[in-house]
Amino acid sequence: MPHDQTNVPPAWDVLLDLAGPGPRHVRLEHALRDAVRDGRLPPRAALPPSRSLAATLGVSRWVVTEAYGQLVAEGTLTARVGSATRVAGRTAARTTTPARATTSARATTSAGTTTSARATTSARATSSGGAADDGAADHGAGSRRPAAESPARVATPPRRPYDLAPGVPDLRHFPRAAWVRAVRDAMRDASDADLATGPPTGHPALQAALRGHLAAARGVDADDVVVTTGATDGMTRLVRALVDAGHRALLVEDPSWPRLRDVAVAAGLTPVPVPVDDDGVDVVALRAAGARVGARVALVTPAHQFPCGGALSPVRRDALVRWAHDVDGLVVEDDYDAEFRYDRRPVAALQALAPHRVALLGSLSKTLGPAVGVGWLVAPPAWHDRLRDVGTPPGTLTQLTVLHLLTSGAYARHLRAARTRYARRRRALLDALARHLPETSVRGLAAGLHVVVTLPVGVGARDVVAASAARDVTVADLGRYATGAAHPTGTALPVSGTRSRVATESLVVGYGALVDARVDEAVRRLAEAVAHVARAAPQPPSPPLPPRTVPAR
Ligand SMILES: Cc1ncc(COP(=O)(O)O)c(C=O)c1O
Repeated sequence: MPHDQTNVPPAWDVLLDLAGPGPRHVRLEHALRDAVRDGRLPPRAALPPSRSLAATLGVSRWVVTEAYGQLVAEGTLTARVGSATRVAGRTAARTTTPARATTSARATTSAGTTTSARATTSARATSSGGAADDGAADHGAGSRRPAAESPARVATPPRRPYDLAPGVPDLRHFPRAAWVRAVRDAMRDASDADLATGPPTGHPALQAALRGHLAAARGVDADDVVVTTGATDGMTRLVRALVDAGHRALLVEDPSWPRLRDVAVAAGLTPVPVPVDDDGVDVVALRAAGARVGARVALVTPAHQFPCGGALSPVRRDALVRWAHDVDGLVVEDDYDAEFRYDRRPVAALQALAPHRVALLGSLSKTLGPAVGVGWLVAPPAWHDRLRDVGTPPGTLTQLTVLHLLTSGAYARHLRAARTRYARRRRALLDALARHLPETSVRGLAAGLHVVVTLPVGVGARDVVAASAARDVTVADLGRYATGAAHPTGTALPVSGTRSRVATESLVVGYGALVDARVDEAVRRLAEAVAHVARAAPQPPSPPLPPRTVPAR
């Protein structure tokens, strides 16, 4: 039912079918997104006022405002004070790539077939993290990646009693009992055939369950989910396919998580840094950098930039998708901790907005723990063939265990409890920072497992990390995630004018692994470390005194 504003208005109750399970605002959100995605609601189409749509659909106004708000946040709709809520004016994702109509089609051109990458720097990084031993070096596990594929990494950090390392989930609350039940159920239900070698893209039953989970949790309509051992494994598979297709460069956020950059470097891609700010990656700079070096693939963290903590703004989400469309490129979305949003429901994945231009990487590493070793890769249809036979999935019994965890509802229960726990701990951390470190400022969304703390002028983050370690506190220097820090051999291609605007004198303070009862003491010790460094730091030149307005007495 194509709708344009000059025609008779659509029958909204028919267009937006709210049948099915789940809360009404979520169903409405899905129905609207589907209608936009498959073109029934074209770009710039006006939506009814919330009150009238609520009356038409027989739901409360809150249901409509909640669904509209969510879709505005992800860039599917736009809202301006005094005018109607409208479908965003994007052309890239929607007009050329109706998701449902082409689920089984194979595109004839793609980022993989017409590459014109001109980046020629071919040096390889030899170290991933600048070899710092600051105790927060390389969060997450990752021991499951085959050694031959592993780029060099810094040693596993020592865990300290006051653990402010970023990126580490609360392993004390791993749902062990539910996992044991799921193992038992998996073993009981596994067929003999399940005990043989499984398909490289994963067990079909888990693929189906993940499809359902991603649709409900991330708005993703994935016709083909590859089961991986984690985001790192998904990236490994993807970069192999990219290199096979002729790509030589990868646009990366600066700063960003070194491990995925390292995977790209190990496969033969040169990382090209692009600055980030509080609205996520700077898409204007990304477009310029890409054009300069011929890079048409970008690795980004739209839901929660790692490590700076912003969400990609709706305008930039739109611009990024448009860029990928314009250059026949690919956006790789690292969706590492999107389930944890404390101020609102998580914004849908970028992949949901542009399934033909965005590949989604996700895993259970943050929600359960890295030791589970299960993740997913959802790639645009044009890449399916190239990804079909690369990589080794997790063991089938692990996959079937995760399947039972998902289908029994245990995973959803665990997520709800974890969200409540992290939100509470985050609040306690912010309170403690306000009490003990009032001279610092905190950045980042109410999301994920870390915040960024900007230190007072003149206080070096590396020194604070070292002083903290001496006080049994593990914390990370934001500077270690800069592309320059991760590639001291100079493999990051310098692109003039793309210097990061993020202050490097900041700490990345994690609260995933922190014991609740130690939040205050951890921050008190951190404050002690900051004070210690501040005392030792050369004083910055004092600003000129303002002209006196009263005579000295
Ligand atoms: C930014 C980022 N992306 C992805 C991941 C997940 O990686 P994996 O699933 O390979 O454990 C992490 C985990 O620490 C991360 O910090």
